Amino acid sequence: PLPAPEATELLAWYDRHRRVLPWRALPGEAPDPYRIWLSEVMLQQTTIAAVKPYFHKFLERFPSVDALAAAPDEAVMSAWAGLGYYSRARNLHACAKAVAAAGAFPDTLVGLRKLPGVGAYTAGAIAAIAFGRPEAAVDGNVERVMTRLHAIETLMPAARAEVRVVTQALVPDDRPGDFAQAVMDLGATICTPKRPACALCPWMAPCRARAAGTQETFPRKLKA
Ligand code: ADE
Repeated sequence: PLPAPEATELLAWYDRHRRVLPWRALPGEAPDPYRIWLSEVMLQQTTIAAVKPYFHKFLERFPSVDALAAAPDEAVMSAWAGLGYYSRARNLHACAKAVAAAGAFPDTLVGLRKLPGVGAYTAGAIAAIAFGRPEAAVDGNVERVMTRLHAIETLMPAARAEVRVVTQALVPDDRPGDFAQAVMDLGATICTPKRPACALCPWMAPCRARAAGTQETFPRKLKA
């Protein structure tokens, strides 16, 4: 099927404005599942700025998922020290051991979901970015972008199911990983919680909230 016009517009914007991040493959480069998985686990509850030095430290100390799996617990926990939410580090290590034992990362959403510490968002992100699967990765930023695009009046968190459906409907078969990261970049740099830069947005024309001038009121919540 042809990609939705919104997907085409967003990917054209991404090709011009994509952020250069250490875990992102450059255009034409093959994505590395280890780097993508590591970054997505670190980026749960943590900003890009805080993650960057830890991402580099981990790659230096544990250059592959096998190296991470073989490392002592203390080495993994001490490399993680300062990043917070330490259950992520324990899950990371358990996950590395499972992947090393299996010989490869699972390359489907269902397989990824079975890994310790990999929830719906992280599994979708890895499936799309590392393996080119047509999956959606919906986090809080994507919820904001999508509830604005479609002016979804349902209150959060009930709107999540609807957001998943409308996001999945836009995922283009040919570039699902770029699409996932483009929505993330849009949410981080244009479609911000306060004072979104709608004039610069590739989705200005189709955005229902922008048309009504109500963009800052989405996502709708019981308490503002
Ligand atoms: N936040 C979580 N994953 C991300 C990614 N791959 N790019 C940018 N921001 C992110």
